[in-house]
Amino acid sequence: MRLVVTLRSRQAVGPRAQISRIKMLDVEVRELMQAFVLSDYQVQEVYSRFCAEIAKGLKRSTHVQANTKCFPTYVQDLPTGDEMGKYLALDLGGTNFRVLLVSLKGHHDATVESQIYAVPKDLMVGPGVELFDHIAECLARFVEKHDMRNSHLPLGFTFSFPCEQIGLKEAILVRWTKGFGCPGVEGENVGRLLHEAIQRRGDVEIAVVAILNDTTGTLMSCAHRNADCRVGVIVGTGCNACYVEDVANVDLLHPDFKRTQRQVLVNAEWGAFGESGQLDFVRTEYDREVDDTSINKSEQLFEKMTSGMYLGRLVRLVLIRAIQRKVLFKLSNRREHFATAMQKNEDVFETRYISEIESDSFPEFPKTRSIITKLFGLEKASVEDCQKIRYICECVSKRAATLVAIGVSGLINRISNRRIVVGMDGSVYRYHPKFDAYMRYTMHKLVKSDKEFDIMLSEDGSGRGAALVAAVASKTK
Ligand code: GLC
Repeated sequence: MRLVVTLRSRQAVGPRAQISRIKMLDVEVRELMQAFVLSDYQVQEVYSRFCAEIAKGLKRSTHVQANTKCFPTYVQDLPTGDEMGKYLALDLGGTNFRVLLVSLKGHHDATVESQIYAVPKDLMVGPGVELFDHIAECLARFVEKHDMRNSHLPLGFTFSFPCEQIGLKEAILVRWTKGFGCPGVEGENVGRLLHEAIQRRGDVEIAVVAILNDTTGTLMSCAHRNADCRVGVIVGTGCNACYVEDVANVDLLHPDFKRTQRQVLVNAEWGAFGESGQLDFVRTEYDREVDDTSINKSEQLFEKMTSGMYLGRLVRLVLIRAIQRKVLFKLSNRREHFATAMQKNEDVFETRYISEIESDSFPEFPKTRSIITKLFGLEKASVEDCQKIRYICECVSKRAATLVAIGVSGLINRISNRRIVVGMDGSVYRYHPKFDAYMRYTMHKLVKSDKEFDIMLSEDGSGRGAALVAAVASKTK
């Protein structure tokens, strides 16, 4: 396994780089996208509101009203890199469910074997008991396959939804996010539900030693490699962050946990930011429509502007409008047919297309053209149309990266260390060609001048991170 930290290269993404490319675009597409371009004033204002919300989440007296709940995770030790041993991990919270076997080998090293299992759509919204039975069944199959039925390995459960933790292995689901909606789980102890599902089967013996969020796993996994890591961020199906906070600021943490340690990891749950109207001054008509048609209307508004579950939906709505207003496919007499093709289903424009289109070569646009063919049945899209679609994608993804950077900067500025590394993961961050560069551009404006920051790509935070939390937990027992 590589020991070298993966740091992304810096790219030119400032206003100049963008302007030179859009000079050739017509004014209509720029007008259409104006609402997605955040001004310096808007960036500063969102930053101030975000910082205020984090402070509210941490304080007992204001926690109830706060959008960003800032849940203490009960993880208080960062890894040293010397951790050893075998651990099982479960990872639920994105498009797939995974079971992993993680071997921590000391010297900052680890190996991971994993198996991916689909989570059928009906299980995502069906009775909670069925979801947990499915998880237990996949776990049993994995354990059987690896001949570990009676190995009693400790298990870390990465459950990436907002949970109020009452201990390391007790987590109460506050609400479902990201398209999940199984009745019977909100308000319940997720650790208990998993334990009961394992008991119902009776064929495996597993000790659940920790429940954690994917952002916590990302932070731990990056800290395992780089001792300066203090923030973990996911920009994948959902969007959220975790960071290291001084225990004195975490009112919700039980006093017993404040005596021995000075710090605790806090799960910000920043995806919910904006639910009290703080983002209304930058939200567009497209953001409102994405929210109106979602299964969790009025919830997770920051997440709906930044994460993989929604970015494709935003682009799709803009494309429909662009076609209707003759901004796109100006000369075609099949425009109505194109608009109808986009209306078919809300996920027809997949978020991964944004990354493909933005990394395409000019002026050939092979990837963009093949996406246009797939979506509209149109064989030879013009260079102008390809450019416009790319600009639409750029505005949506750049706004998302700017918002994420605002949040990351807010967290970095709370932490007293001078040098801070941010561990990042999630499909949007990982595969988008410029997300990292867009983020750095805004972070350079917002992070306090006496600080130094860097961004690091996480390697399997949900697996390795879960094992590390389990390992650190058994060390402190
Ligand atoms: C959603 C969940 C959060 C998770 C994030 C990234 O925002 O509420 O817990 O960390 O998605 O997966």
